[in-house]
Amino acid sequence: MVPSDSQTVKKPPKPSNLIKSTLHSIKIHFSSHPRFWLFIAFLWAQALIISIARTPPPCFPDRSSPSSVRCVSIHSNATAATLHDPPPAQYTDDCPSGRVYSYDLPPAFNRDLVVPNCTDLDPWNWECGIISNHGYGRAATELRRTLPVDLHKSWYHTNQFTLELLFHHRILKHKCRTLDPELATAFYIPFYAGLAVGKHLWGNDTSARDRHCKMMLRWIKSQSYWKKMNGSDHLMTIGRITWDFRRLTDPGKSWGSSFLNMPSMQKVIRFIVEKYPGDDMDLSVPYPTGFHPKTRESLTEWQSFVRDYKRTKLFSFIGTDRNWGENDLRRVMMDYCRRESSSCRSVDCGVSDCRRNSSAVLIPLLESEFCLQPKGDSYTSKAVFKCLVAGSVPVFFLKTSYEQYEWFLPGEQESYSVFIEEEEVRNGTVAVKEVLQRYSKEEIQRKREKVIETIPRIIYLKPNAGIKSFKDAFDIAFDGAMERIKEEKEWADFLR
Ligand SMILES: *[C@@H]1O[C@H](CO)[C@@H](O)[C@H](O)[C@H]1NC(C)=O
Ligand SMILES: *[C@@H]1O[C@H](CO)[C@@H](O)[C@H](O)[C@H]1NC(C)=O
Ligand SMILES: *[C@@H]1O[C@H](CO)[C@@H](O)[C@H](O)[C@H]1NC(C)=O
Ligand SMILES: *[C@@H]1O[C@H](CO)[C@@H](O)[C@H](O)[C@H]1NC(C)=O
Ligand SMILES: *[C@@H]1O[C@H](CO)[C@@H](O)[C@H](O)[C@H]1NC(C)=O
Ligand SMILES: *[C@@H]1O[C@H](CO)[C@@H](O)[C@H](O)[C@H]1NC(C)=O
Repeated sequence: MVPSDSQTVKKPPKPSNLIKSTLHSIKIHFSSHPRFWLFIAFLWAQALIISIARTPPPCFPDRSSPSSVRCVSIHSNATAATLHDPPPAQYTDDCPSGRVYSYDLPPAFNRDLVVPNCTDLDPWNWECGIISNHGYGRAATELRRTLPVDLHKSWYHTNQFTLELLFHHRILKHKCRTLDPELATAFYIPFYAGLAVGKHLWGNDTSARDRHCKMMLRWIKSQSYWKKMNGSDHLMTIGRITWDFRRLTDPGKSWGSSFLNMPSMQKVIRFIVEKYPGDDMDLSVPYPTGFHPKTRESLTEWQSFVRDYKRTKLFSFIGTDRNWGENDLRRVMMDYCRRESSSCRSVDCGVSDCRRNSSAVLIPLLESEFCLQPKGDSYTSKAVFKCLVAGSVPVFFLKTSYEQYEWFLPGEQESYSVFIEEEEVRNGTVAVKEVLQRYSKEEIQRKREKVIETIPRIIYLKPNAGIKSFKDAFDIAFDGAMERIKEEKEWADFLR
């Protein structure tokens, strides 16, 4: 977790072994290249100039091949003159980390994977509703009756597996997209991996879960821009949790595809809704909710609305009872919530029509101060984001719930959430209601303010938004990944 009070994106940590190998190769350079001293002197001079100018860290131009220079020397004409660098086109004020090139993949790897003829007529089919509105889904017009004025216009029936389409669409519209791969810092692979694999997860044909993945990798590996860096400047999006793509690391070797075990994938950065904590290439990004404002004004209006909403219940629990086990904390919480119905608002989406009626989830969240977030089928869940968007303060029961989304959620857990030890709830040492009652109105208000402040960072704007004046979850993810690729390219150039 990192503090993210400011709106700046935290740079991803550089793997320490990269630094080690860097230092090592500096040592080698010292002994074998006297000219290296000259270079160090040059770097020192540049660092001095830059530190005076209070600019970002220096970049490391490659002396041997002018064509691959990536240093923008806007602060010193002398530096640029010494290096005889043409002004590099790929780093500009608009796109400080460079440009992205999106592959035009054969439709079998994206378009054909979207089921075209099912909108939301069949809410029980997980693939339905993805196609409309570039992945944002059909407008949630039923909210017209429950939300005041025009607030419903920011709400959609967004499928939880739609992230691959959303990111693809946003990349295609991005101001830093280039049609010329020569100018690109990063390469986007618009492969809809989650849609390709999801269809086969419950079948017993494991090879079917890998088929599209293997075909796509064969295709991409034949591209010259892949070969340049073996994919380490490539990006993609995966709309399902990481565990659905790691069959070979699954203890039973039976669940999921082996896509993320495949050697060619090891250097590709993926935006993914739940990351594998040990894999730096997985970058966890928020699950899409149904809230997609088009303008800053709609967002601000929504923030005031959730701030002022009269919350009549202390807490809520919303879940879908799909044969939860007797010991599942979700069952324990559902039973508890029903018993405490004067303080708790419970919704069982197995009974209520949560999919077709957005009010069924949104209104209870708006009406409660806190929302209970016991662990779902995996460590993360989309429910957390629905809760936050409604300005309700999440209550977590496992520390692992905080180990994702570090670019998006506040670093200080206490500032926006409540933690209650699961074990203490189970053995009756603490009662959830009593814990929550101990918070004063002011304390709750402070947490809620933090939640409201976080909303822009965890939502996905509708891109025909016109001028944007804030960064949404996509921007934060994209800028962070681009920055990382840029830095790695600079290190690679420096070491060459
Ligand atoms: C840098 O060079 C440009 C064009 O050669 C010139 O217009 C500008 O005045 C120079 N800036 C400084 C600080 O020397
Ligand atoms: C959707 O289209 C596919 C192929 O075109 C067809 O097999 C399927 O029956 C259609 N489904 C519905 C619900 O119309
Ligand atoms: C899946 O399992 C069923 C029964 O267990 C079997 O009849 C079928 O052939 C299997 N299919 C594949 C592709 O392995
Ligand atoms: C890419 O991988 C191949 C095979 O593993 C290797 O021979 C080659 O040097 C690698 N290229 C780069 C730029 O790392
Ligand atoms: C949708 O849910 C809300 C809140 O639970 C409820 O008041 C409303 O009657 C529902 N609408 C329909 C059409 O079921
Ligand atoms: C309940 O669990 C907590 C945390 O594991 C433990 O510290 C406490 O002693 C337990 N209490 C009882 C009565 O078992």
